[in-house]
Amino acid sequence: MLPPESGLWQRLEVTIKALVESYGYREIRLPILERTELFKRSIGEVTDIVEKEMYTFVDRNGDSLTLRPEGTAGCVRAGIEHGLFHNQQQRLWYLGPMFRHERPQKGRYRQFHQVGVESFGIPGPDVDAELIVLGARLWAGLGLSGVRLEINTLGDARARARYRERLVAYLSAHRTHLDADALRRLESNPLRVLDSKNPEMAELIAGAPALIDELDPEALAHYEALKGWLDRLGIHYVENPRLVRGLDYYNRTVFEWISDQLGAQGTICAGGRYDGLVEQLGGRSTPAAGFAIGLERLLDLVRSEGRLEESDHPHAYLVMVGPRAEAVGRPFAEGLRDGLPRLRLLANSGGGSFKSQLRRADRSGARLALILGEDEAAGGWVQVKYLREDREQERVALSELSEFLRATIDTGGQSGS
Ligand code: HAM
Repeated sequence: MLPPESGLWQRLEVTIKALVESYGYREIRLPILERTELFKRSIGEVTDIVEKEMYTFVDRNGDSLTLRPEGTAGCVRAGIEHGLFHNQQQRLWYLGPMFRHERPQKGRYRQFHQVGVESFGIPGPDVDAELIVLGARLWAGLGLSGVRLEINTLGDARARARYRERLVAYLSAHRTHLDADALRRLESNPLRVLDSKNPEMAELIAGAPALIDELDPEALAHYEALKGWLDRLGIHYVENPRLVRGLDYYNRTVFEWISDQLGAQGTICAGGRYDGLVEQLGGRSTPAAGFAIGLERLLDLVRSEGRLEESDHPHAYLVMVGPRAEAVGRPFAEGLRDGLPRLRLLANSGGGSFKSQLRRADRSGARLALILGEDEAAGGWVQVKYLREDREQERVALSELSEFLRATIDTGGQSGS
């Protein structure tokens, strides 16, 4: 990832970080490698991720390790190991590369980046709603309007077991219409059959019994309360009873944020509740919910229809022609940096003619060239040349330059006065 792309990433990361921290989530930094067993036990043995997508190897001790395909499992593992879940609520977030050996295409990569947000110790739908509203606020802040929210409930383990029986009966009755994947999963993980992307199975899946008909009253009440919160918070949602997610640890609430702008890989963010996972991995029973954003996809969307405040281009490029100009200019630039910590100032290095320095200034993407020649250095002023606007050059005294640049920074660099 090269500049200027890396600058875009930085600004996106800063924006997300500020938002999640404003909701009280704190950063947890997780290792990229975990024991393979962790992902098998959490994501599930019979999932695409564990069956075909993990980068797994045996290390020099003979331990099987895996490059993390997602962050939730590692977050729970670390939380258990460090006692983070004992009688307390935790709101955590993380950011980093994840690895899945999928077929690469636009929006789907073998190394991609997620921001994950996880809450622990809070059983109610209020925190599900908080996680969702946080996402909505992020899309709005990034100028994205066309992101659709789909929600569903998976109920609790007992209801899913009942549902599983009904589903197996239904699928078995239509065995001749199942593809090879579905036939295999019919035995091991029938809910996953509903996940199939095979268009020839779409009709069969559409006619399958619905999980919602099997739900326990508690899970239904949780779902109704979540919808109530979303209504009160002004969040539009679409209920999608077929939304099952590709990881096994979820119960009750699941949701995805989807854009139609991105083609086949339109889900920019996904998550849900996973109340059983902490206990399943050896901790005390702890309710939990969270989501992860796919940053590549989000950035694609921001590029095509959103906005990221402020570019990382320099506000100004200091052109210094001649020894006197250099002698005055360089210490002066340091003084400007002292007074204006947010100033992005590129001071010319390596000499060069007026013309070649101006060319560098232009290429740097700076808004302004501050031109300091021998006369200007002697007289104590600079010529300010607007590089991106059709506007007369102006003369500014060195003593007033700091104030002048402050205005440039405050107006996002659009105007120098
Ligand atoms: P996930 O749905 O597997 O969930 O991934 C979350 C998001 O990561 C996806 O919606 C997508 O934007 C992005 N993503 C996944 N795979 C790729 C890929 N190969 N290339 C580019 N982007 C990708 C999880 O990972 C859960 N850990 C989310 C979660 C957190 N649930 C609760 N807490």
